[in-house]
Amino acid sequence: MRGCFITVEGVEGAGKSSNLDFIHHYLERCGKRLVLTREPGGTSLSEAIRALLLDHRNNEITDDTELLLMFAARAQHLAEVIRPALEQGKWVLCDRFTDATYAYQGGGRGIAKERIATLEQWVQQGLKPDLTLLLDIPVQQGLERAGLRSTPDRFEREQIAFFERVRAAYLEQARRYPERYRVIDASQSLDRVQQSLAEVLTEWLVQR
Ligand code: TMP
Repeated sequence: MRGCFITVEGVEGAGKSSNLDFIHHYLERCGKRLVLTREPGGTSLSEAIRALLLDHRNNEITDDTELLLMFAARAQHLAEVIRPALEQGKWVLCDRFTDATYAYQGGGRGIAKERIATLEQWVQQGLKPDLTLLLDIPVQQGLERAGLRSTPDRFEREQIAFFERVRAAYLEQARRYPERYRVIDASQSLDRVQQSLAEVLTEWLVQR
């Protein structure tokens, strides 16, 4: 039986890293064999593309180039990691996926959704996450939590208005796909967020 594909999304400072660890251990305790991976990245070629995308010195990257690089990294990741794992019956837990493209390149950069949808169809051939956990937090609170890194990457250098558009686009995706999306209020304490995650996962596992 094909494994399940779960993605975790959110703006900066939503607590993705600690919550991914929690989700990973939670699903393992439920007996699932898991592959933990991330986007952009997850293969050596895709990690090289990630480095190009995040390098703050690459400020000449156009919006279209950024979008195409995201999907180039994704095509390789799907071929090398995601599809083979799902076919072997493993579950894939991915730190960001195409919803991030709708949020950052669509909402943030203003690229039309139809363009993103064309690439999505081409690269994914209908493969979509079974469950997307959106860790939602007000942008200002997220940025304060994330704090300032000594060398912010190309995305972290964006202005607050950019992240407001990213958050709004994530919430729009959640409204468009209520069957696969679960929105978690990530402004709560870490304990409360993890309690919510455990409830959502338990309910989702029972329903499947
Ligand atoms: P990370 O910091 O969560 O690892 O993600 C790296 C950055 O890449 C983050 O700022 C969001 C951005 N990103 C996009 O802009 N589009 C995408 O499709 C993905 C997967 C990530």
